[in-house]
Amino acid sequence: MKFFADTADVAEIADLAATGLLDGVTTNPSLIAKSGRSFLEVVKEICGIVDGPVSAEVVATDHATMMKEAAVLRALAPNICIKLPLTIDGLKTCKALTAEGVETNVTLCFSANQALLAAKAGATFVSPFVGRLDDIGHDGMELIQDIRTIYDNYDFKTQILVASVRSPVHVLAAARIGADVATMPPAVIKALAGHALTEKGLAAFLADWAKTGQSIL
Ligand code: G3P
Repeated sequence: MKFFADTADVAEIADLAATGLLDGVTTNPSLIAKSGRSFLEVVKEICGIVDGPVSAEVVATDHATMMKEAAVLRALAPNICIKLPLTIDGLKTCKALTAEGVETNVTLCFSANQALLAAKAGATFVSPFVGRLDDIGHDGMELIQDIRTIYDNYDFKTQILVASVRSPVHVLAAARIGADVATMPPAVIKALAGHALTEKGLAAFLADWAKTGQSIL
């Protein structure tokens, strides 16, 4: 399972990239606004930090302008993945970019039928938003399971990129289903490593080690 960071915070991305556990980055217009930085500048900088795909989202709503925006974004770096909304124009743009060999991420997916369309459009990734579904009383993971079943039924190669991940519980559930990628806020990625018994056990080992009076170096 690949781990992407869902942020436009360059310092956090650099920190995670240094662990060697980061496979890519996703951004969206809200995260860019939160960064307070120029969209093109910050995305280019992120592309220089991570080797994997960096999703940068178009903001046009019509196919022709989406294609023009995608051309600008593609010129930023070779690892740019064009993020497109799950609308008819977004799907049309996805199909056209796929034909040109460009990686795409079809976002704002909230139903299995939408995910089916994204796969038919040749999307590299589809982004179902589990947290936002949970927020309105639906079961986000049920959607991930449905998409996994459908994609496996037809051998679709589109990767399921679980988005709107809010906690390690979402990550575990997505991994159990066999989702390809989870994009997470940096705090969630770091939280995956935490366990009270790990901390307690380490403290005990270090205390006992100190009693030996030895050192390794
Ligand atoms: O990148 C899209 C998605 O991950 C947003 O998550 O928490 O705003 O629903 P959230």
